[in-house]
Amino acid sequence: MIFGPAGADNRLVTETHAAESSWRSSEHALAYLARADALPHRAEGEAALLEHLPADVSRVLDLGSGDGRLLTLVRLARPRIAAVALDFSPTMLERLRARFAGDSAVAVVAHDLERALPALGSFDAVVSSFAIHHLPHARKRALYEEVFAALAPGAVFLNLEHVASPTSALHDAFLHAIGFTPAEEDPENKLLDVHTQLAWLREIGLADVDCHWKWRELALLAGRRA
Ligand SMILES: C[S@@+](CC[C@H](N)C(=O)[O-])C[C@H]1O[C@@H](n2cnc3c(N)ncnc32)[C@H](O)[C@@H]1O
Repeated sequence: MIFGPAGADNRLVTETHAAESSWRSSEHALAYLARADALPHRAEGEAALLEHLPADVSRVLDLGSGDGRLLTLVRLARPRIAAVALDFSPTMLERLRARFAGDSAVAVVAHDLERALPALGSFDAVVSSFAIHHLPHARKRALYEEVFAALAPGAVFLNLEHVASPTSALHDAFLHAIGFTPAEEDPENKLLDVHTQLAWLREIGLADVDCHWKWRELALLAGRRA
């Protein structure tokens, strides 16, 4: 996540396996949810994502849905879509099931993104916010390939992401700007720069790849399957 529970020790874990991920603990998940609204400029990034959502989407996949915040915004913008919300945190899955209870248009899928995506069919948009940076870099790239395979022709991939700063001074400045010290940073962040990720998306075959919005380490990375 963007920021960890206060006092998190960022020396402890840099390459956790998902099986050991603190996201499986309800304390970690709830600490994130308590602070999610306070992230500066977040609403701008979400608005940029919605702006790039095609008008005619009918099926959307949200990777690392958390409590369904992004999917709820997507469904406000496109009320008739069917959607799949995917996460592996028991607390987040419980929140998702409660939020979308009785809504047959939303399927909640428990899945660890460190493993290949299950067969979910094809989508007009795959979206994600602040989730994929928890995966090791090689897995990020493999996931991008799986996303490409799941996109219908003309479909978009919209990833609002926490990315790496080019220098440690800029990273420290980002933490300061969001009100955190380096010691409070989430030890499970595996931040990667924008340019590497955009290059991967192009190599994989996405068209119109770009970073449409950026504020410090928050960025909207996007592409379209031609
Ligand atoms: C910072 S939260 C973002 C949640 C939501 N997308 C939002 O914007 O509020 C990161 C989410 O990614 C999920 N996540 C982290 N690692 C994951 C993994 N290996 N597999 C599935 N979900 C994962 C966490 O459980 C959490 O819900």
